[in-house]
Amino acid sequence: MHTFALDHPADLEGWRETARAAYLAGLQPHEVLWTSAGQPSPGDLFAAPVAGNGADATAALPAPVNEGELRVPRGFMQLAREVVCHRDEARFVLLYDLLFRLQSDRHLLRKAADPLLDRMVRLAKEIRRDAHKMKAFVRFQKVGERTTVTGDTREQFVSWFEPSHRIVRFKASFFVKRFTSMDWSILTPDDCVHWDGEKLRFTPGTAKPAAREDALEDAWRTYYASIFNPARLKVSAMQSEMPKKYWKNLPEAELIPELVRSAQSKMASMVDAAPTLPKPAMMRHREIAPEEPALDLGKVSSLSELRTALGGCRACPLHGPATQVVPGTGQSSASLMIVGEQPGDQEDLAGRPFVGPAGAVLHALIDEAGLDRDDIFLTNAVKHFKYQPRGKRRIHQNPAAHEIDTCRWWLEKEIALVQPKLIVGLGGSAMRGLTGRTMAIGRARGEEIAHASGTPVIATYHPSYVLRAPEPEAPRRMLLEDLQRAHALLAA
Ligand code: URA
Repeated sequence: MHTFALDHPADLEGWRETARAAYLAGLQPHEVLWTSAGQPSPGDLFAAPVAGNGADATAALPAPVNEGELRVPRGFMQLAREVVCHRDEARFVLLYDLLFRLQSDRHLLRKAADPLLDRMVRLAKEIRRDAHKMKAFVRFQKVGERTTVTGDTREQFVSWFEPSHRIVRFKASFFVKRFTSMDWSILTPDDCVHWDGEKLRFTPGTAKPAAREDALEDAWRTYYASIFNPARLKVSAMQSEMPKKYWKNLPEAELIPELVRSAQSKMASMVDAAPTLPKPAMMRHREIAPEEPALDLGKVSSLSELRTALGGCRACPLHGPATQVVPGTGQSSASLMIVGEQPGDQEDLAGRPFVGPAGAVLHALIDEAGLDRDDIFLTNAVKHFKYQPRGKRRIHQNPAAHEIDTCRWWLEKEIALVQPKLIVGLGGSAMRGLTGRTMAIGRARGEEIAHASGTPVIATYHPSYVLRAPEPEAPRRMLLEDLQRAHALLAA
């Protein structure tokens, strides 16, 4: 039995190094165990760990017997990145088992019914859920200010959070991106992470610090009370989104009982006031329910699973002539989702959205508007290229309303998985995909529109309209203005 000692309980790099060496040394899954600082290995508490950690630990291994490269599909590392954060003590052993089996079965990650894969997918899902909670419930308290060497003042914040799993390292970059301009520390019982504007540092976990009242908490409570909407109060749904376990660390949580108590009377006055309020645009039209394609999808719970499922979509005839399906691209943590019409000729060949001429216009304007490309999820209302062959050329055809409606199921899934803060719809097809109704962009641009999830939607012109217009300045300017508005809204 070989036992490898890792640096910490979610040490993906250390595991990767040692797993690679173990595989090349011909070690079977039942011959390896992993331990990490502060955590014994499962099943074999008495085995002596291999000295050192990571690459050092592999020095004691037998000479390589497996020739050549260890190869894994891209989805494996994505899965591993999440699974290592889980508190399941068998996580590293299970990952090695999966890695081992992938060498003889390249398509294992597509076999959703495989019990090992199923278990890993469930662990990964629990991590994503925990990560979502962390993103939503970390609350910073201001604890001071400091002057940098260049004379700037940086405010310093601290937060206490108790995640269910070891997700601090996994999610740290999200907080760096979101709170780059302040110094902060997130303290948890397992790990603490600190950002000083330049460097991310990790330190061991700590005990819960004494509560400290300050103005930031008051401000947060005021904000929370002002956004509380009694018409949407569903206590059970609220508790499943914001489980009670997190309440004790949320400054706004103490407001909840009173807000719930007063909800009924607030609701009554909202009903009285309703006739004087402008109706949300979406309510003026019949909602068209997105149709679920006739596919056995099982439970699609991640973007990679969605991409796999999309590859088999036969819900409308557009898949026939198309080269391939073109799913959305971007991080599942993206704040902004931009929805186009359908892939064009180049996107159909590349399998990625917005890589052709319209994409070039869009990316230039995204940059000009100051939006962060890495924080955008790009997708289309229709996922297959619709065209008419003409000689050697393929001429773009607008998708029909029923084709957009059939494809809405996929767009809805993307929105549910990414949960963007804001959506930009480029052109009429995108807006139909997002709202189920046909609208003229010239009019829709000024309207307040929301997706069924409540996410605000900015309707704007499609970049190909900029390319086609005899006088492109005006649509280009309007598209830029709308992207700048998106930037301002996200920054606020
Ligand atoms: N136009 C779109 O709407 N989407 C693309 O991906 C490319 C061009």
